[in-house]
Amino acid sequence: MAKKVQFTETVLRDANQSLMATRMAFADMEPILGEMNKAGYYSVECWGGATFDSCLRYLNEDPWERLRKIRAAMPDTRLQMLLRGQNLLGYKHYHDDVVEKFVELSIKNGIDVLRIFDALNDFRNIRTALEATKKYATANTVASGCISYTQSPVHTVSKYVAMCKELKEMGFDTICLKDMAGTMSPYEAESLIKGIKDGIGDMPIILHTHCTTGMAYMTITKAIESGVDVIDTATSCFSNGTSQPATESIFYALQQYGIETGLNEDVINRVNDHFKPIKEKYIAAKTISPKSMGTDAGALIYKVPGGMLSNMIANLTDMHAMDKFDAALAEIPAVRKDLGYPPLVTPLSQMVGNQAVTNVIVGERYKNVSNEVKNYFKGDYGIAPGEVNHELETKILAGFGMEHPVDCRIEDSKRTGEDFAKAKAELGDLARCEEDVMSYICFPKQAKDFLEKRKAAEENVYTYSIEAM
Ligand code: CO
Repeated sequence: MAKKVQFTETVLRDANQSLMATRMAFADMEPILGEMNKAGYYSVECWGGATFDSCLRYLNEDPWERLRKIRAAMPDTRLQMLLRGQNLLGYKHYHDDVVEKFVELSIKNGIDVLRIFDALNDFRNIRTALEATKKYATANTVASGCISYTQSPVHTVSKYVAMCKELKEMGFDTICLKDMAGTMSPYEAESLIKGIKDGIGDMPIILHTHCTTGMAYMTITKAIESGVDVIDTATSCFSNGTSQPATESIFYALQQYGIETGLNEDVINRVNDHFKPIKEKYIAAKTISPKSMGTDAGALIYKVPGGMLSNMIANLTDMHAMDKFDAALAEIPAVRKDLGYPPLVTPLSQMVGNQAVTNVIVGERYKNVSNEVKNYFKGDYGIAPGEVNHELETKILAGFGMEHPVDCRIEDSKRTGEDFAKAKAELGDLARCEEDVMSYICFPKQAKDFLEKRKAAEENVYTYSIEAM
């Protein structure tokens, strides 16, 4: 068993994203950052994922400025972000130079740990982000290679160990197992972590899971017994439900195990005290829904994540076809198999769910195929984890006039400066720094709206001050 287990605190990012769609304003975190800096966490996950979009779209905040303020308030803590490889913070593939610039600016503005993943575990899609991380690394930079965890006949322990070896050879510093659906069972955690530790030696292993199905505490306990080095937890008032397990609870349990955590008990309790009224405020405003706070074992029963299930129910309800729900659920394993067992994460989960619904509504398999599924077979998302249905593949590729899926890396053109220069020109005087341009490249409409509002607000202040004189 590990002698020391460290904690990544997720309240600022994943807990915020999972429980309240990332709507926590910076003003609600700011007063406690100085305290969090003294907690002794391995890292604080505070950026990336949906925080960036949410800042621009809903909170009228500059995500880069938020990061710089967190950096200034937490000088002694590793700040962590989640990065979707070549997709950065969304689902579209960016050119290499954009990915490189994004990583450069993330590090420059204060990020230490870049947790980099690809939904299909197609590691070609995380190489550019890794290389940029190494290129712009400071003494504190950590490149964390992240594996999207899923269960399927092709996702065996030996396959995961092979993935970890590949990440290690690519040059990542740590490895994270990301169980976004919260379906990893205690014994799966045990065999995986022991297998990985045996396979790759002393490289730090991180477990990221969610309480969604109610298994996370048991799974984390087994993971710790099996030698995991870092776990992701959320301060207790922002834990459980669709979020991570509670920081303090696991801290107290580990004390009895005699495992060192490096956490300061008083500080982690004060962090929770700060966030308690914040949570109450967001519950009152209905930003946090009761549904996200409960346990839903559906993902274990139906073998599909909760979000995918609710998406299917919404689709079927729209079509007045809820009577087909059981048939659609039963169709999912077949569709997933035909697609070569992609991990059921966004956007792949919606793709599989929607196609299953279409198959049962139409009454014939793949008579209608969605554009997303077509593009998937074409190779737009990367390589499928397992064998795909070749008959279906041939049929879809014929529609594109192709015989084989694209076998080069999706982003294979080494264009430089083009996207950035174009975005900069489009923004004109709205952009004052490279960060503004990058916001616009990632989220064009939201960033432009934000930058226009910023400009208007400053002009109003200016007008006002002249009138006041
Ligand atoms: Co997560």
